[in-house]
Amino acid sequence: MLCRNISFFRHIRCRSTFILTSSPLTPSSSASPLEHGGRLHAIAQQYNRPVADWLDVSTGIAPESYPLPDLPSSAWHRLPEVTPSFLKAASDYYGCDSLLPIAGSQSVIQHLPAIVSRAGRKPSRVWVPHPGYKEHEKAWTDAGIQVYRYRHLPHLTTLTSGDIVVVINPNNPTGKLEERATLATLQEQLHALNGLLLIDEAFMDCTPEHSMLQSLHGENLLVLRSAGKFFGLAGLRAGFLFASRQWRERCSAVLGPWQINGPALHVLESAFNDVSWQSAQRSQLNESALWLGNLLTTHFGVKCSGTPLFCTMPHPRAPDLFAAFCAEGVYPRLTDENDALRFGMVTVSQRPRLAQVVGRVSGVMERP
Ligand SMILES: Cc1ncc(COP(=O)(O)O)c(C=O)c1O
Repeated sequence: MLCRNISFFRHIRCRSTFILTSSPLTPSSSASPLEHGGRLHAIAQQYNRPVADWLDVSTGIAPESYPLPDLPSSAWHRLPEVTPSFLKAASDYYGCDSLLPIAGSQSVIQHLPAIVSRAGRKPSRVWVPHPGYKEHEKAWTDAGIQVYRYRHLPHLTTLTSGDIVVVINPNNPTGKLEERATLATLQEQLHALNGLLLIDEAFMDCTPEHSMLQSLHGENLLVLRSAGKFFGLAGLRAGFLFASRQWRERCSAVLGPWQINGPALHVLESAFNDVSWQSAQRSQLNESALWLGNLLTTHFGVKCSGTPLFCTMPHPRAPDLFAAFCAEGVYPRLTDENDALRFGMVTVSQRPRLAQVVGRVSGVMERP
């Protein structure tokens, strides 16, 4: 079914290591801005329903945010300064101190070609997961670098000198989680080829045992983390790059000073130190994901995949389903491939409404 949807590929090898066009994606294929979830005002206008009446499940942001601490006026007044206590809190939370605070992982994703070129590298090819968060593909194609999409991690025999492999772990939207041992082997193989491994761990907070931060080493591994999703603080625009000192310096040089704002520094320091809130949040998200997965599978008869922050339901009539949900005031994310709906978690008090709408929408939709 997935192959059917990718009709523009001239050469496709489904279920094999990679999907390769006979020529790589061209820069023009990604010139326009991408659409993401979270466009609640636009959707509300399109379906003519007041913003306050919507249940927005179009993102993978936790529905319960970390409770905001009181902020000292200096957080607003002074230039933001990354303090030793902030660095300690962040290092303890992530289990790694080779970090650079950034204004959300997106800020690095879009500048990676410039950051890599500061290292004097001109990558020949970049491998990106498909499906996957499309901003990775866009950054490289916009920079004129050849991008190849893969469905399963590229095998050594398909890699060449200087290749960069991007892994979204766990993947958004599929939730596929790569083992650390597999990624360590890939890192070694890329090292031998003078290549780079970039791992986007935006949705890793509920499964830290799978994070590459536990064993970050070497000059050819960069790991991105987002603080917005697990802590429910996407509006803060905060995240981290983990890499060697040289890579962090190159990144700083490209992004410039004061990446992370003063209020974000204060709120995050408190969130990173609040281990009991983190553990309650993890349990709550795990429980919510179980509830949501069961609800969707029971009503639509399909197997869902995902993470504790989102649940993705493949469906041959995903665009029709999307419209049916929106007509009921529930806003999911239609995947870029139009072959699935992705749902973010809801709070316990929002469950009855979502369950009712799922029941109604599935009632008018045939099972696949
Ligand atoms: C896989 C992935 N990586 C990175 C990002 C960017 O997140 P942020 O810039 O909020 O850290 C997103 C946003 O949805 C994402 O899905």
